[in-house]
This record gives sequence, C-alpha cells and structure tokens, in this order.
Amino acid sequence: MRLENRTALVTGAASGIGKCIGEIYAREGARVALIDIDFDAAKSVARAIGNNAVALRCDVSRKAEIAAAVADTLSAFGALDILVNNAGTTHVNKPMLEIGEDEYDRTFAVNVKGVFLGCQAVVPHFRKHGGGVIINIGSTAGLRPRPGVAAYSATKGAVHTLTKALAAELAPDHIRVCAIAPVATETPLLPSFLGPVPGMREKFIATIPLGRLALAQDVANAALFLASADAQFLTGNIVEVDGGRCV
Ligand SMILES: NC(=O)c1ccc[n+]([C@@H]2O[C@H](COP(=O)([O-])OP(=O)(O)OC[C@H]3O[C@@H](n4cnc5c(N)ncnc54)[C@H](O)[C@@H]3O)[C@@H](O)[C@H]2O)c1
Repeated sequence: MRLENRTALVTGAASGIGKCIGEIYAREGARVALIDIDFDAAKSVARAIGNNAVALRCDVSRKAEIAAAVADTLSAFGALDILVNNAGTTHVNKPMLEIGEDEYDRTFAVNVKGVFLGCQAVVPHFRKHGGGVIINIGSTAGLRPRPGVAAYSATKGAVHTLTKALAAELAPDHIRVCAIAPVATETPLLPSFLGPVPGMREKFIATIPLGRLALAQDVANAALFLASADAQFLTGNIVEVDGGRCV
C-alpha cells in the first residue's frame, strides 16, 4: 500500500474527483478527512469507506472553517501529512460579457482563495512535523483556455501560479506543492463546462488525442502518485491529466 500510516485531508470530497481521491487514498492505506459543504454526501462517502474516514462540513472559502476542519482532522487522527485542495466550482459556459459579478466572485473565492486558505491552514502543522505534501487541482483551462469559461480559466491559472510560488517558498520546510491539470472530466460539474450548446461534448473529445474525456480515476491515480514517496523529488509541477490535449 502506497499511503500506509499517512493522513490526508481532501476538500470537495463528497463528489466527483475528490470522492475518488478519498476512496483511492483509503484503499492505499491512508486515513482520510473528507471535507465538503455538502455534509450529507460527504458522510455517505465516509461511511462507505469505513473507520479510516471522517466527514467534515466546511466551506473552503472561509478561513475559520478550513482552520477548524484541519484542527478536527488532527483531533480525529492525530496526524496530517497530505492536503488535496480539490473543492472547486464554475460559472456555466457562456460569453465573458454574461458572467455576473457574483459568479466571478464566488468562483475566485472557492477556487483560488479556498486553495490559499487551505495551504495556510496546514503549513504550520507540516513545518512542525518536518514536511508534508500539498496537491492542488488546477485545470487544462488554466493552461490552454477555450471560449466560454473565462473567469473559471483565470482561477485555474492562479492555482497553477500559486502552486509554483508555494513550491519555491516551502521547499526548505520539506513541503512539496504540486498541481494536477485535468482535462474535461466525467463528473457532475461537466455539464457546466460544456454549456447548453448541442454537440460540445463531441467537439471537445475531438481535441483530445487519446480520444475520450478524463475519468475521476485518471485524476485520482495522479493524485496518488504525487502524494506517495515515488514523487519525493517532485515539487512545483503542473501534471496534465488530459489525454494529450495540451500537447
Ligand atoms: N470535471 C471537470 O471537467 C474538471 C476538469 C478540470 C478540473 N476540475 C476541477 O476538479 C475539482 C473537482 O471538481 P469535480 O469535477 O469533481 O466537481 P464536483 O462538482 O463533482 O465536486 C466538487 C465538490 O466540491 C464541493 N464544493 C464546492 N464548493 C465548495 C466549498 N466552498 N467548500 C467545500 N466544498 C465545496 C462540492 O459540494 C462538490 O462535492 C474542481 O477544482 C474542478 O475545478 C474539474
């Protein structure tokens, strides 16, 4: 097992990619704290995993809530080695002039501020205990943006830059910081990315050399590698899980 005796906190773990990361980490021996605003769904994921999982209610865009979730994880498991900043949201695919100020603010609050606050919440603990791993979920939208997702793409560009900035700043503390940039992935968020125009799914797939969208498992497998000792010399990387889309 690749994460034996490790403890991970995964945000946005009630659904999609975060749920899959929680399940795969637990299967590989980790204890997992599953953080989400959808507490009921997080609880049912935790129940299905068993004793190695706890569910915690938390809005990652609120400093006090993410700090409390980290404290609760430490009370539950007595350790914390890995943070996966996965929680994210988007505005529906639409022209930039139609993106409302509230949608813009919410997307940045969850996708960028949430990642920053998550990092701030764990770094003092990681420093005290000699290191740790932070994995941020970015997106190919932050590397090769396409029309209709302007504000969302900007948040993911910010996540990638934050990842590199923190990798450089925290390396002396043996804290590795990497990001994963998935292409469109089969999760409940996907219809928002594709938008209402018919044929978008097929159009999208046609731009991916390996000929399909990503699955949550593709992303979770990369998150497993990055969290494991196999990736001990990796920091600051943006790992594209995209079937060749960004080539
Ligand atoms: N699905 C895709 O096509 C795709 C592609 C690239 C990147 N991503 C990124 O992957 C991550 C996971 O998305 P997903 O596709 O699994 O979506 P999802 O909607 O299935 O899961 C996201 C989870 O995050 C939770 N969440 C949202 N706001 C939150 C907040 N403020 N605090 C705590 N939890 C919150 C939701 O309740 C949900 O359970 C996101 O960062 C997303 O931007 C998704």
